[in-house]
Amino acid sequence: MQSAGKLMKVFITRRIPQEGLKILSAAGVCEVSQWDSDEPVPRADLLKGIQGAHGLLCLLSDKIDAEVLEAAGPNLKVISTLSVGFDHLAIDEIKKRGIRVGYTPDVLTDATAELTVALLLATARRLPEGVEEVKNGGWSSWKPLWLCGYGLSGSTVGVIGLGRIGMAIAQRLMPFGVKRLLYSGRTAKPHAAEVNGEFVPLDTLVSESDFIVVSCSLTPETQGMCDKSFFSKMKPTAVFINTSRGAVVNQEHLYEALSSGQIAAAGLDVTTPEPLPTNHQLLTLKNCVVLPHIGSATYSTRGVMSALAVQNLLGGLQGTDMPSELTL
Ligand code: NDP
Ligand code: DGY
Repeated sequence: MQSAGKLMKVFITRRIPQEGLKILSAAGVCEVSQWDSDEPVPRADLLKGIQGAHGLLCLLSDKIDAEVLEAAGPNLKVISTLSVGFDHLAIDEIKKRGIRVGYTPDVLTDATAELTVALLLATARRLPEGVEEVKNGGWSSWKPLWLCGYGLSGSTVGVIGLGRIGMAIAQRLMPFGVKRLLYSGRTAKPHAAEVNGEFVPLDTLVSESDFIVVSCSLTPETQGMCDKSFFSKMKPTAVFINTSRGAVVNQEHLYEALSSGQIAAAGLDVTTPEPLPTNHQLLTLKNCVVLPHIGSATYSTRGVMSALAVQNLLGGLQGTDMPSELTL
């Protein structure tokens, strides 16, 4: 048993699944302080809690920038984020200070791909509208022209970012009878052959797809990529789905495209900001389905993410391998 003075200090920015906390406590090498709430840690408490910490376990809602790193001071060896996305981390600042970063790829791929397919089908087949009509008495009889949507069979699907999640989405969509699978990104992917994926320029993907699924990471290049010009190239019958990050989309331009009928519908699991204000204009549209960023939200996935995030944290604290270290 180490004396309390020798324990390394860890700050955890949220209540997280027990799976990770059990591993942390069994390791017995840390003095843990935690923002033990389901709501985000206020910035002032983050800046206070991280002082002198050797390790930080954070979430995608915590902006880890130079100010936080300065507040932490020179002890900080590792930042472990409970997410695969790392756009909330100021990577240049972190790298400059020699801090290691852990993240949670792969373990959430299936859950996120599944949710993306659910969102695509719900949006294309207008499920939330249908449920609402059943409840509000709008269902008067079976009507040939009522609540029609778009099907996947014989369609062209375009995946922007055929990475881990993009590929898992494509694998799940192909059995619905998709005719062509287009994808775009920085580089062609050998694994695309498995889904007969065609690597095409973004403009081709946008103009030829019946369904567009955004599953890339948020980077300076992808920020605001889905804008007026993007939506103007889409077919008027096409459905737009985003489960990557809200900032990939210009939401004002999306609103214009949806409300003017330039595109058929959109399904978003991610928005800017999060939460989306309840009076946001996108929420007034019947052809826009918005979910509260629940891509990876299955009990088992969140448990495994928690365990992995803690294992990454411990690796960073002890100077050993991390199961999932981000290459900086
Ligand atoms: P990967 O790194 O495996 O995939 C990211 C993909 O983004 C790569 O294929 C990459 O293509 C592509 N990409 C990068 N830059 C561009 C660009 N300029 N244009 C088009 N594509 C680009 O990550 P994951 O698949 O594991 O995760 C992807 C993202 O999904 C995460 O970063 C996160 O933001 C989001 N996510 C959302 C969840 C949710 O709850 N909604 C859950 C989990 C993740 P290339 O290799 O050619 O550069
Ligand atoms: C991530 O991991 O990046 C997601 O957005 C949440 O699981």
